[in-house]
Amino acid sequence: METKKVAIIVGSLRKESFNRKVANEFIRLAPKSLKLEIVEIKDLTFFNEDVENNPPQSWTDYKNKLDDADAFLFVSPEYNRTLPGVLKNAMEIGARPPKQNSWKGKPGAVATVSPGAIGGLGANQAIRVAAVSLNIPMMQQPEAYIGQIKDKLMEDGVTVNEKTEKFMTDFLTAFEKWIMQLT
Ligand code: FNR
Repeated sequence: METKKVAIIVGSLRKESFNRKVANEFIRLAPKSLKLEIVEIKDLTFFNEDVENNPPQSWTDYKNKLDDADAFLFVSPEYNRTLPGVLKNAMEIGARPPKQNSWKGKPGAVATVSPGAIGGLGANQAIRVAAVSLNIPMMQQPEAYIGQIKDKLMEDGVTVNEKTEKFMTDFLTAFEKWIMQLT
């Protein structure tokens, strides 16, 4: 089976980010047919339409990585019931200029992670709303609201417990099927 490249966009810049830990667990648990890699967004300057036709190098490097991917996985916290600004900024940069929308038509999925009980539901939905405009066909089911993350990590603080591992593996199996259908 052909290997597909999946760019993971993590919506937190925090060093000890739970979302980054979960993203790394997705990488560990991925099926052989999927090559998952985090595409960093921390060096992106704020989107500004004035410079989109003469973009800074950080935007170009980032967009080249998106262009190289077959699919996208967003792993993000919720900030104030919606998606973090850094992630929204990364979405804008990826989408512009209009004829160079790096997201266009490629399959996507979203998982939100929170220490709270609701699992980033608001961010998860907001990312899906933006994905309509970005033209990313998003996997609808299963939905991944990974709440109370502190209770789902093992003592090492890095790996997820068995139940969460099973949930994430099933999520990846469905995503693999979604990607193979659309690419
Ligand atoms: C939060 N947090 C948060 N959590 C949540 O479940 N819903 C929310 O609306 C918010 N809002 C929010 C706003 C801001 C500005 C911050 C800094 C935090 C808490 C958040 O889930 C927590 O800090 C996570 O640990 C952030 O994810 P990472 O950085 O661990 O991946």
